[in-house]
Amino acid sequence: MRVILGNGLWVSERDDHKVQKKGLLSAFTRQRVNALYPIVCKRPSETIQEVAIALNQHKGILDTANWASRYALDVIGSAGLGKDFMAIQDENNALVKVCKKVFKVSKQQRTIFLLNTFLPWWLLSNLPLSHNHEFLQASKAIRQVCQDVIHQRRAQYACEGVWGTDLLSTAIQIGRFSDENLIDQVMTFLAAGHETTESSLVWAIYLLAKHPELQKTLRVDIPENVPPIESDAEITSDDIKRVPLLHAVCNETLRIFGPVRLTMREAACDTYLQDSAVPCGIKFMISSCATNIDETLWGPDASEFNPYRWLSENEEGNWVFLHEGGATSKYAMLTFSQGHRGCIGQGFAKAEFACLISGWLGRFSFQLEA
Ligand code: HEM
Repeated sequence: MRVILGNGLWVSERDDHKVQKKGLLSAFTRQRVNALYPIVCKRPSETIQEVAIALNQHKGILDTANWASRYALDVIGSAGLGKDFMAIQDENNALVKVCKKVFKVSKQQRTIFLLNTFLPWWLLSNLPLSHNHEFLQASKAIRQVCQDVIHQRRAQYACEGVWGTDLLSTAIQIGRFSDENLIDQVMTFLAAGHETTESSLVWAIYLLAKHPELQKTLRVDIPENVPPIESDAEITSDDIKRVPLLHAVCNETLRIFGPVRLTMREAACDTYLQDSAVPCGIKFMISSCATNIDETLWGPDASEFNPYRWLSENEEGNWVFLHEGGATSKYAMLTFSQGHRGCIGQGFAKAEFACLISGWLGRFSFQLEA
């Protein structure tokens, strides 16, 4: 990962990680994420137009993964970097192709990663494989795009005295990162925030297709609370919050089909986990997909898709969102991991998730292909 992400937040360790995280957290505060809503919510309306054309051409059959991927890339491009990749309009443009080369794991890449468990990276990356050459070229090309955008942002600030609302502009303003490290952070956002979002969206559509009654209820709740996605009115986080069932569907999808199935840790010193001694150097696998459906934490229906576990009815008979989904512990949900290495993009990811589902449900009805 270091080859692609340099020394970005995801791969940095110990004090270096602490300093980077402290700096970047200010780019992901609730206020900052709320400021990104207009950028994020513009994208579903663009996808709707293109998806409607695609549906006409393909007799109503939709390749959801393809569209979710294009949406996720354009959102992270605009919100992360302030650059429109135009994947929604044209999935074959040069920049999109380059991004796919670097961030989509191909079969050859998977084999190389696997071999890297036994063989050193310098040897593998120097093998005369077409993949190695193309991968390094593509990685260089994206880094150059990031560098250009950094220059543009600074020049724009020098002229106009204002920064953009995108994550890169915020990171530049923080003033703690060298240009090289800013590029590493942007590469990290692109890598961490693309396939994860894409996969979650696909599962959400799959689950909604299997539960038409939920689509029906949401199709009433959403228009009552959120301005139409195709209108000029800006959608805010407050609009989305007024539909607790939408949040519940997103959270329940992320609980059952969280895209990061496991993470790894290594004990940095001798320690204890509850009463068990853990020697230094021991490697752990933390499996979110097991914890997220653990019956002792979530109850006997832990494996079932039930968005209503995230809701409780108040005295006026309205739904209120429950942040822990009725689980016995806040650590029962490990989709975004927890603690100081937990996902920094969690709030942002949930916002783009809710915006797309809200937009698509307002326009289309989904069922599984027969
Ligand atoms: C559904 C979407 C997402 C899921 C499920 C997810 C999940 C995760 C998980 C499980 C980790 C911890 C990885 C580990 O411990 O090894 C993580 C870390 C991280 N994520 Fe996300 N993520 C999502 C979206 C995003 C987005 C949109 C961004 C950026 C805008 C992002 C940026 C990061 C970063 C920078 C880290 C490293 C944090 C650190 O080490 O301190 N993620 N994510």
